[in-house]
Amino acid sequence: MARRCCRFRNILICVCTQCCCLILFYVYAALAILLHMKSVLSGEMPMVSSNLASRHFVASGTSSNDSSPSVPQTFWEQHTQSDALWNQLQRHVDLHFNPILRPEKSSTFLERSIFDESLLHRSYFEVTGMDKVRDAVEKLPKQIQEFASYMNRRDYPILIHPDGDCGAQSKREEEPPLILFAIKSTVLNFRNRRAIRQTWGRVGWVEGQRTNSSDGEVGGGYIRRVFLLGKETSEDLGVDVSHILRAESERHGDILQWDFQDTFLNLTLKDVLFWSWFSRRCSQPLFVFKGDDDVFVNTPKLVAYLRHQLEKQRSLHTMDEFMVGEVIGSASPNRVKRSKYFIPAGFYRGRYPSYAGGGGVVYSGGLARRLHNISKTIHLFPIDDVYVGMCMMRLNAHPVHHPAFLTFDFRAKEEAQPCSYHTVLLVHKRSPREVVDLWAHIQNTSKQCQGVPLRADRKTRVRTSPPPSA
Ligand SMILES: *[C@@H]1O[C@H](CO)[C@@H](O)[C@H](O)[C@H]1NC(C)=O
Ligand SMILES: *[C@@H]1O[C@H](CO)[C@@H](O)[C@H](O)[C@H]1NC(C)=O
Ligand SMILES: *[C@@H]1O[C@H](CO)[C@@H](O)[C@H](O)[C@H]1NC(C)=O
Ligand SMILES: *[C@@H]1O[C@H](CO)[C@@H](O)[C@H](O)[C@H]1NC(C)=O
Repeated sequence: MARRCCRFRNILICVCTQCCCLILFYVYAALAILLHMKSVLSGEMPMVSSNLASRHFVASGTSSNDSSPSVPQTFWEQHTQSDALWNQLQRHVDLHFNPILRPEKSSTFLERSIFDESLLHRSYFEVTGMDKVRDAVEKLPKQIQEFASYMNRRDYPILIHPDGDCGAQSKREEEPPLILFAIKSTVLNFRNRRAIRQTWGRVGWVEGQRTNSSDGEVGGGYIRRVFLLGKETSEDLGVDVSHILRAESERHGDILQWDFQDTFLNLTLKDVLFWSWFSRRCSQPLFVFKGDDDVFVNTPKLVAYLRHQLEKQRSLHTMDEFMVGEVIGSASPNRVKRSKYFIPAGFYRGRYPSYAGGGGVVYSGGLARRLHNISKTIHLFPIDDVYVGMCMMRLNAHPVHHPAFLTFDFRAKEEAQPCSYHTVLLVHKRSPREVVDLWAHIQNTSKQCQGVPLRADRKTRVRTSPPPSA
């Protein structure tokens, strides 16, 4: 009996040692994987590590992440596990750059690597080729369906080029241009373009205007300008104006027109194709202003503000993350069918990343080049400023909120205060007539409003959604 017991014990020990070893090994492996995932997700790889981030320059204004709730910090935290079309398409691309499966393809590597859009094409055909997806797409509203059927294309040729290398009237100048105004316009908006050329978008040297009586030297900068246009056929317009547009381009040399239909849902193409043109043909300007043709910009104040930012960053390393505007943090997609901004749940699910309102936003030339590269790994989205926000998130860069960008106009009565237009960098929206009058107004009041500071962050908080009227 004792012997049998002993043998039984031996067998038990024999079996159990192996079992225990196996269990211990699994525990070890699981822990190792978990720890690795944690280090990847907590910021070593897809995001810039925190000591690197602190080297980046931070513009004055409020950081978009100060007050907005639950902004996803990385692309990986977005709701991509969903059947919505865009999410599925993007997930296909993202899996390719999964930092856990392919640590060598971290975002910094990705950004600098030679990359064409073939992965976007491949994922597009794979996903849209599935029966299930095709059925789902058919249930989307007509205009989103149309967007979806063209969202794979971005190779539209240029129809009209600006003069010279870099927008209107490039000349031999001692320093690179400070600002390139890149203004979204449409064929028929001749009056808007004329008003802008005469006023805030005038090219050449602009002296900065001090925003603070104790500011030291202000300096100035060279301005360049280019209008971004799509194509509208004479059937669309009911009139043939192509020869007028050609004449305008010959006269001013500031038209950049592509061969795609100029519709609201195609606006993102203007960003993507502009970055491409900028990177290839016009990369000298230190800053890009990208905005609408119905805004008023206080150019002398903007020049002073940007000069000031350059001063501040001199001791730091890089301007490559610089983007400033009116930041909308963590907004939800608009699900109201009648809205211009309507995005059905079948197309996109999840919140939007923080983004700067597209009425007018300023970013560095370096950031424009980075956006160009990263955009080749992100499927087009029908709302242009949200798309830019998606690209920013991929770069782990945050747009900075500045209360002097009023992409939703003044609040009641503020406009009537004396010197109100000297406290802003941008106001949306103004007619060509108003733009001309306002320009005269800020010239006439420049003495009396000298040194008035820009709108500071009094009661303003980062918005979490556009106002209902927008
Ligand atoms: C918020 O932004 C600032 C600078 O823009 C950055 O230093 C900080 O780490 C960010 N906070 C979080 C939680 O990401
Ligand atoms: C963009 O990608 C190209 C290669 O395609 C690379 O040479 C360039 O340095 C990248 N630019 C930036 C700003 O990362
Ligand atoms: C004005 O300039 C001084 C010194 O340059 C600075 O300390 C102060 O914050 C500035 N005020 C505003 C409102 O910008
Ligand atoms: C975008 O432009 C293309 C090319 O002109 C056109 O075929 C397509 O219908 C446009 N898309 C939308 C949503 O208007």
